Amino acid sequence: MTRVFLSVALSLVLAMPAMAEPVAKPIPIGVAVATTSNIALFGQEQVNGAKIAEAYFNAQGGVNGTPIKLVFQDTAGDEAGAVNAFQSLITTAKVVGIVGPTLSQQAFAADPLANSAKVPVVAPSNTAKGIPQIGDYISRISAPMTVVAPKSLQKALALNPGIRKVAVLYAQNDAFSTSETSVFQEAIKTLNLKIVSLQKFQTTDTDFTTQVTAVLGSAADLVVVSGLAADSGNLVKQLRQFGYKGPIVGGNGLNSPNMFPVCGALCEGILVAQAYSPQADLPVNKEFVKRFEAVYKKSPAQFSAQAFAAVQAIVEALRKVEKDTKKKITAMDLAAARQAVNKALLSGMLLHTPLGEISLDPKGEVNQKQFYVSTIRMNPGGKTGAFVLTK
Ligand code: ALA
Repeated sequence: MTRVFLSVALSLVLAMPAMAEPVAKPIPIGVAVATTSNIALFGQEQVNGAKIAEAYFNAQGGVNGTPIKLVFQDTAGDEAGAVNAFQSLITTAKVVGIVGPTLSQQAFAADPLANSAKVPVVAPSNTAKGIPQIGDYISRISAPMTVVAPKSLQKALALNPGIRKVAVLYAQNDAFSTSETSVFQEAIKTLNLKIVSLQKFQTTDTDFTTQVTAVLGSAADLVVVSGLAADSGNLVKQLRQFGYKGPIVGGNGLNSPNMFPVCGALCEGILVAQAYSPQADLPVNKEFVKRFEAVYKKSPAQFSAQAFAAVQAIVEALRKVEKDTKKKITAMDLAAARQAVNKALLSGMLLHTPLGEISLDPKGEVNQKQFYVSTIRMNPGGKTGAFVLTK
């Protein structure tokens, strides 16, 4: 009797439509970046930038009076970490959207999960080819390497017109680095330069004797490096220690002041193309820099500014949803809110960010106009330094 009753009750429960689940207040936005592992050099800068965005937008009243709340989840440096962080943000924290992950390599593993759960992801730093193509719910505010990388090469050539022979080095176990090197290699050929040495390494390597010896033997007059954090820094350091004196173009992996302690005084002179300059004369950037410097006592790097812009994209999408539907987000069902946020993100709205004016196209790819090429200038003592705009 009891068993019959239970099974009838169970089938009634299963037949009921899924319970509507409202969006929590304050509105939860996930941030899944690497705050541990060798990628933490980037992830910590992202957390710093995202926190400034949270305070900045909440000081403006958040989403038409409702505050936002960032929910941070460490991805560490690998794919499994990113998948777990996404899972927790989607099912436990019930976020309306996710900013993350740090690496393209992680995005190819974790983004499909968010995409099938219909949770919008705004990538703050994924620059490999093919990120928005992962799915309808995936977009990025980080300009792809196809757009950014050639600019540093062109600048190196303008500064050193005699360059003919190029050594190219890249981390072969990382999706971003292999993507970036293919862009560099194409640009090198377009500029009628010759690749005289092509060297591979792993992002976990610390000893680059083999690669450096090969580069020196090739008599290259330009070196181009595509790797991640500490690997790129150590590689550059060993190139200089072994006697390479020519120009070095670094990819996005060298685009962080957290690299300065790794290569120290030997970081001097590296050319890096950037999607952000703290010197950009824009009201939102000035406010961002002021707030960032007040909290962290240093000026923001690209990873921080991009994290700010990714949070901004979600906040502005939330505001747009409220405007278009005339409903409060917190009165909406979570699934409907996530879908509406994604639609708003891909609607082409213009975002005035610290990176300049950007917009996302209907496929989730970023349109950005302004880029910079900077030179690393180390301070006496070789512990601190700055990215100085290259004239
Ligand atoms: N730009 C690097 C990547 O896409 C961090 O993985």
